[in-house]
Amino acid sequence: MADNPDLPRTDEEAAAELASLATGIARHNALYHTDDAPEISDAAYDALVRRNAAIEAAFPHLVRTDSPSTQVGAAPAGHLAKVAHARPMLSLDNGFSDEDVAEFVQRVRRFLSLGTDEPVALTAEPKIDGLSCSLRYEDRRLVRALTRGDGSVGEDVTANALTIADIPRTLPADAPALFEVRGEVYMEKAAFADLNARLLAEAEAAGDPTKARRFANPRNAAAGSLRQKDAAVTAARPLRFLAHGWGETSDLPADTQAGVVAALAKWGFPVAEDFSRFDTVEAALDRYRAIEAKRADLAFDIDGVVYKIDRLDWQARLGTVGRAPRWGLAHKFPAERAQTTLNAIDIQVGRTGKLTPVARLEPVTVGGVVVTNATLHNADEIARLGVRPGDRVVLQRAGDVIPQIVENLTRDSDRAAFTFPTHCPECGSDAVREEGEVDIRCTGGLVCPAQRIERLKHFVSRGALDIDGLGEKTLIEFVKLGWIKEPADIFRLAAHRNELIGREGWKDKSVDALIAAIEARRTPDAARLLFGLGIRHIGAVTARDLLRHYHTLDAIRDLADELIKLRETLHPALGEDATKHRNRVDKAIAERIGVNQVGAAVGQALADFFHEPHNRTVWDDLLAEVSPPPYRETARASEVSGKTVVFTGTLETLSRDEAKAQAESLGARVSGSVSSKTDLLIAGPGAGSKAKKAADLGIRVVDEAGWLAIVAAAE
Ligand code: IVH
Repeated sequence: MADNPDLPRTDEEAAAELASLATGIARHNALYHTDDAPEISDAAYDALVRRNAAIEAAFPHLVRTDSPSTQVGAAPAGHLAKVAHARPMLSLDNGFSDEDVAEFVQRVRRFLSLGTDEPVALTAEPKIDGLSCSLRYEDRRLVRALTRGDGSVGEDVTANALTIADIPRTLPADAPALFEVRGEVYMEKAAFADLNARLLAEAEAAGDPTKARRFANPRNAAAGSLRQKDAAVTAARPLRFLAHGWGETSDLPADTQAGVVAALAKWGFPVAEDFSRFDTVEAALDRYRAIEAKRADLAFDIDGVVYKIDRLDWQARLGTVGRAPRWGLAHKFPAERAQTTLNAIDIQVGRTGKLTPVARLEPVTVGGVVVTNATLHNADEIARLGVRPGDRVVLQRAGDVIPQIVENLTRDSDRAAFTFPTHCPECGSDAVREEGEVDIRCTGGLVCPAQRIERLKHFVSRGALDIDGLGEKTLIEFVKLGWIKEPADIFRLAAHRNELIGREGWKDKSVDALIAAIEARRTPDAARLLFGLGIRHIGAVTARDLLRHYHTLDAIRDLADELIKLRETLHPALGEDATKHRNRVDKAIAERIGVNQVGAAVGQALADFFHEPHNRTVWDDLLAEVSPPPYRETARASEVSGKTVVFTGTLETLSRDEAKAQAESLGARVSGSVSSKTDLLIAGPGAGSKAKKAADLGIRVVDEAGWLAIVAAAE
């Protein structure tokens, strides 16, 4: 597998990235395995896993105890009983090229010290896109069926498995007394389409088609159908089973993979029609290509070919590494492709203001799923592909989730090129692209309906106005009721007191507590208020730096007005190119601000914000409700005043800069390394050698939440 050229350079970088990969992969595992609702493609998921493995290989001392390479799937869902597997259910390493397969066999040869002319027989069979299931037969009766779960503990789906016609309830007399059959529960493509149609029809009959539960692909449909609390629901779903291996056994009917699979077939289990055995890599690869060629015509989804070392004595010697056996490899197919017409490009505004172009496509089937939309990511991607509405495009559906346009087949069209909007389609505010960034963002912030909840959440958050009792759910409720559109409305909520008391979940006491929490913020700290407005680049530290210098919010607004004028008056000089001009404007802006550490990006963002009439209204409305006193530096007394603190690992809610500024504002010194002079170590996930050293030196260590508690406790 190709090495990743841009590995992290330092331990700190590697630890931080491993920490974020562990969190990210765990989240995608849960979305995929527990919720049956993946958000990224299998290919994108594989890329994350490979990146993790590459970093772990380069920084073996930083491999985490919760490393994704040692975990399989996701922890089981809540409603089914959890049962430990007698033998862990493993996963398979993936290969993507012929070379990966040749390397796999080479690794096996090296591991077993085989001579070059000793044949290594491989089996090859399709990799079914379903969910694995372990069927335990005691005295030849099916006693338990478990899903894979996290590989060690699965979910008990015995009653559900008993409804699947492909699964024998008993084994013949010549089968061993104890035998666990492992295989794939899956749904055929046609059955999946019928099921989705049926679910929609049922929801329509019930009067609410928008509530229809529809599955994204056959795999999710199979998983959702097997993992039902009520086996009667499973029984009504057309599930199938295909055996491909085994777990705990009292005896084995053969000494090769092919031999055991033949026995499984004899005992009544469906096994792969294409199951075959080869003596050379070349022959196995020929079979891979043959299976790939008929992939689209198969009744079920497959996503690759699985090779296994045929001899079971060799499998036993090869054993496992991490979460996968050394004796197996999944050779994945490249993503499926199809051609279609791009009908239109729509712009969606995300919760953070990012404008994302979405391709509306002439419906086309890619690998059994009808695709009508694809993401175009950003303006650069549109430019790279040169796509315009009306073009013929090649679409790729990698791992069945988010389809992508990979090629534009239309050349030399005389239709006009797509121009990215300069205004937000949701609120009409300016949409701007910052220097060096790929994304274009709406500057409407607080007035943009797409961003409203996120912005309000930020406004009331702990680092900003810190209003208790206004969580996301409550904000959504109030926005829906039309009570809150902008921050100033929060201070007018008292007018809805009586109506609110009548609503579910609210009582006099809770309503009055909320109103009191809001009233307590009528004279807020000016820096927190500025930070709370969520103007780009104005974090808590910058807001404080600005107010330390300008003292009042009125002065900040005057500054912004001057910056707007400055931008308007500094025209490009004759012969000056765009970059030079931009640099000259940036320099003038930074000079005008005149605050150490506060650069042109902040000035540009302030100017962008106040350039929007809606934002000026938001600002005026807010300042009609609250009266922040002029900024005064308050030396905050804290348990860390005068102490030396060190931050290490990943901080999740704070940037390093902000954490450092917090420490300094409490009168603490921040150092980069742990020594006997260190008083406190704040260790986020992925903390490596520093955490160990602190432990050795007996230094107090807290996590990020512990640090935030110290900050909150400061006077
Ligand atoms: S053999 C040690 N054979 O793919 C695991 N797995 O990515 C041995 N799968 O967990 C698995 N078709 O759920 C094997 N013909 C096949 C398969 C197959 C699908 C699934 C299985 C496994 C996953 C590994």
